[in-house]
Amino acid sequence: MDDSMNDSMNVLVCGGAGYIGSHMVRLLQEQGHTPVVFDNLSTGHAEAVPEDCLVRGDLRDKSALRRVFAEHAFDAVMHFAAKSIVPESVTDPALYYENNVAGTLNLLDAMREEGVMRFVFSSTAAVYGNPIDGGAQGNGVFTMDELHPVAPLNPYGHSKLFIEQVLQAQARAYGLRSVAFRYFNAAGAAPDGELGESHDPETHLIPNILRAALGTGPELHLFGDDYATPDGTCVRDYIHVNDLADAHLRALGFMRREEGAHTFNLGNGQGFSVRQVLQAAEEVTGRPIPHTISPRRPGDADVLVADSAKARAVLGWEPKVTDMRELMETAWRWHSDQKF
Ligand code: UFG
Repeated sequence: MDDSMNDSMNVLVCGGAGYIGSHMVRLLQEQGHTPVVFDNLSTGHAEAVPEDCLVRGDLRDKSALRRVFAEHAFDAVMHFAAKSIVPESVTDPALYYENNVAGTLNLLDAMREEGVMRFVFSSTAAVYGNPIDGGAQGNGVFTMDELHPVAPLNPYGHSKLFIEQVLQAQARAYGLRSVAFRYFNAAGAAPDGELGESHDPETHLIPNILRAALGTGPELHLFGDDYATPDGTCVRDYIHVNDLADAHLRALGFMRREEGAHTFNLGNGQGFSVRQVLQAAEEVTGRPIPHTISPRRPGDADVLVADSAKARAVLGWEPKVTDMRELMETAWRWHSDQKF
């Protein structure tokens, strides 16, 4: 069965004006679905979504949520709206629990009141904490599958794990069907350059590298070159934003046939070190990228690479962008002519 093919659905996309959400909205429209975006625009951009599908609202505002559910008959909800900066979650945990936990509980309440029983949730590799050796092996590097123990190191990861556990309980008690996707490092941009990553402040590696290349940002601080990796810099699994969106589309079809609360890793299973990413960026941009070696950033694990065999087997999902240069080219197209 091809889960990417579905009858037309009305889908509420919370956080649809953000980086991953906006790529999702575009894919839903291309596939003949009808997305409605609910976004407080705190980090999202109105320019990222068609005007006629944007509802400005906050998940902490129950009456705004009830209104949007009263005005539409949704078949499913996708939930991308969250605070997602790890160090910020350490210094201001209340902000993270209020947005990511209380806001999501409000959303689940509104869904239950209206009988909307399908939910796709953006979770994160941060639920795992530090990798424990002895897990699955793939591509010659240590990879983590969904059975790897969960032990978040920060309130961001904890807030996401808490909701995963709520989804398990609500599946048993209310029959809510859900898919939680544990993203590894979301990266890249729409190949036509119309959508991409735009955060302020920016903390992620690839945008920071490309801003340094353009001179629109400071030189790159490379956080630590004494990790237990071949070149001493951290290894991560960079997964293209459109590949993430494709998995969400498949989740809609999957939930039609499957009950329960399900969890899937989403990564491409390849690890790239910070130095390898930097080198790919120099090749793609044709520019030297000013950088300096800085102290380690607190909380960074040496290696985080996904084993996504479950998503491949169960959802028929296959990441299309597996080459770092190709991924970097999409990001470069966006950053060198950033629309918002
Ligand atoms: N890095 C730099 N310089 C920068 C930014 C990042 O050297 O300016 C390094 C980091 O130290 C890390 C790697 O580049 O080694 C990737 O860092 P990112 O901040 O781009 O991504 P993270 O791996 O820290 O975070 C991602 C998601 C989080 C999620 C986490 C799960 O962005 O939301 O994976 O582990 F929680």
